[in-house]
Amino acid sequence: MSALLHPFANPAKAEDNFISVVKAERSTLWDSNGKSYIDGLASLWYCQVGHGRREIIDAVHQQMLEFESYHIFDPFTHEPARQVADAIVSKTPMPEGRVFLASSGSEAVDTALKIIRLHGQRRGGSGGAKQIIIRREHGYHGTNFGGTTAQGIASNREGWGDLIPHFVQVPSNDLEAVASLFAEKGDQIAGIISEPIQGAGGVIPPADGYLEGLRRLCDDHDALLCFDEVIAGFGRTGSWFGSQTWGVKPDLFTFAKGVTSGYQPLSGVVISEDIASDLEQMDEVLRHGYTYSGHAAACVAGIKNIEIIESEGLVERANTQLHSWFRDGLSALVADGVIESYRGQGAIWGADLGRDSVPVRDAMLEAGVVVRGIGNVMAFCPPLIITEGEVTQMLDTLVASL
Ligand SMILES: Cc1ncc(COP(=O)(O)O)c(C=O)c1O
Repeated sequence: MSALLHPFANPAKAEDNFISVVKAERSTLWDSNGKSYIDGLASLWYCQVGHGRREIIDAVHQQMLEFESYHIFDPFTHEPARQVADAIVSKTPMPEGRVFLASSGSEAVDTALKIIRLHGQRRGGSGGAKQIIIRREHGYHGTNFGGTTAQGIASNREGWGDLIPHFVQVPSNDLEAVASLFAEKGDQIAGIISEPIQGAGGVIPPADGYLEGLRRLCDDHDALLCFDEVIAGFGRTGSWFGSQTWGVKPDLFTFAKGVTSGYQPLSGVVISEDIASDLEQMDEVLRHGYTYSGHAAACVAGIKNIEIIESEGLVERANTQLHSWFRDGLSALVADGVIESYRGQGAIWGADLGRDSVPVRDAMLEAGVVVRGIGNVMAFCPPLIITEGEVTQMLDTLVASL
């Protein structure tokens, strides 16, 4: 047995049975047998600008020649961390907000949950501190204890013993259920965590008015609305952030993945000016941070990646070209009776096959297309630089595999 224990894999699976990736360029990857694949999932929902981008590699290399990294706990700071925070916040609906940096989506989620709780501790209703955090069925928020507790995929929560108290689950797109919960326990609810479009849980867009409704309920009950933009951020839904696609401003939100397109691990949380000023009023140390918060090489990868997304117009490309290629292609498959339905936005789509997607996913892999099967849904989330020909080839492969 190999020493390597894979994430989200059967520990008994032999290393020889994994696909060994040796090279990747733009939207294509190659395995150790020389076989090529279209990367229909941007690796794991993260590679916005495509693989093999010299500009990012050179920028990281150059940074590492200066200094690979230095921590930014008090009293240190550095230019890459400052610059990436400025670059990120300038694209958000809260340009006066502040940015906390981490390395993974799960760390970003834990950070956001702690900020929600911290804020709730300082608010306290008649029932004592506001501690309840609302999570949605089908939500995915990573696998640290915070994200494990906050996610709405039951199988991922089970088997680890007791998780974090005071999380309450609501059905995925049912605003009434959230309203009832607020009516019952409003003075104890610290906040809600929700992806703008649910990704790993099956590519589920918000119902009309749903996110607006969450915003209204949070406003009415002095609770915080947190979007988890780990997948949705950096152009994926056709705007820089999902909050802009759906026109609802959260109080804080997480990001990861597309911030560097995966060239270095970087993530974080953006907090609104109001939350920031609340933290500033504490006038004491924020006792939270990671060794690699603000890792210099990761920050530089983020700065260069954001420059590329901007200079190549990739947000607009997702909003117009990718959106129409997928919408038109998938609607034709519904008309032909090949799939049952589809949903998505920009550059993230799900096709409901009406049957278990995993064998179809395996057939597509065999045919050289990487996608993700989630229950009956086949998920597509390619690099934003993918071509129309490649999208067509992916959909043709789906049809052939069905
Ligand atoms: C919405 C969302 N939040 C959090 C995470 C966790 O990110 P990571 O795997 O980098 O910890 C993911 C990962 O897919 C995600 O999709």
